[in-house]
Amino acid sequence: MAEGRLAGKIALVTGAAKGQGAAVSRRFAAEGARLALLDVLDDTGRELASAIEEDGGTARYWHCDVGRAGDVEATIGEVVACFGGLDVLYNNAAVIAYGRRIGELSTEDWERTLAINLNGPFFCTKFALPHLLARGGGSVINVSSHGAFQAAPVGIADYGTSKGGLVTFTHYLASEYGREGVRANCIAPGPIPTDLNALFLGTSEGRKAAATMIPLGRVGDLEDIANAAVFLASDESRWITGTVLHVDGGIVIQ
Ligand SMILES: NC(=O)c1ccc[n+]([C@@H]2O[C@H](COP(=O)([O-])OP(=O)(O)OC[C@H]3O[C@@H](n4cnc5c(N)ncnc54)[C@H](O)[C@@H]3O)[C@@H](O)[C@H]2O)c1
Repeated sequence: MAEGRLAGKIALVTGAAKGQGAAVSRRFAAEGARLALLDVLDDTGRELASAIEEDGGTARYWHCDVGRAGDVEATIGEVVACFGGLDVLYNNAAVIAYGRRIGELSTEDWERTLAINLNGPFFCTKFALPHLLARGGGSVINVSSHGAFQAAPVGIADYGTSKGGLVTFTHYLASEYGREGVRANCIAPGPIPTDLNALFLGTSEGRKAAATMIPLGRVGDLEDIANAAVFLASDESRWITGTVLHVDGGIVIQ
């Protein structure tokens, strides 16, 4: 039996192939969880699963577009058949339609962002719930954003709206299923350089500019998110539900 803060747990991470999802997956595995990695970047996702296994962990990759209910239902069925259950759902996959104000956003942009960022967590939660309940409960972690709480002037209304909706969804999930042992919380990251925001944080000038808005004086890194994720996935947070953990160097309070 693996040791660690997540020993014995089975965790599913969406958008696991790169960025925060990959870092969280590696950390979950290092803490003893068995990992289902879901993404649409198949080569990268499979490479990550192999790397985790080479490091002594347990991980398997599935192609799954979280915006498609049928894909999600089928994949979660396969994950549970493979590992025998599910304890932790980490809803992380997201996209963004950068740089367009509301009047210039196409209906396709809006619908795509909402489909992946908001419908996706709903589909994953809906089809995971019977399996979480079958094991007496579990932890659902929804990755929101400081953009749900701060309206940036750069044109991310689609994204910010999806992330605000995710906070409200988390409240309802926590309220409806708490008595059956299912906890639901959000992580709201601040600016962290990844492919998602390479437009702004891909240069040292961009990172320096962002840091001036952050009380702790730097942009975040992937380990900052992995630290919070392990806490919310583990039993150390067993009396915490319906909350938002701002992992953002304090940007949201300014
Ligand atoms: N990076 C930041 O500064 C920041 C800030 C706040 C919140 N977040 C949130 O953190 C989470 C991780 O973002 P990241 O920065 O690692 O971005 P990223 O772009 O590096 O990773 C996103 C992952 O989601 C996957 N994905 C996209 N569409 C998908 C779909 N339909 N089905 C399955 N997977 C899909 C991508 O392939 C990718 O692996 C997201 O929810 C994002 O909104 C990021």
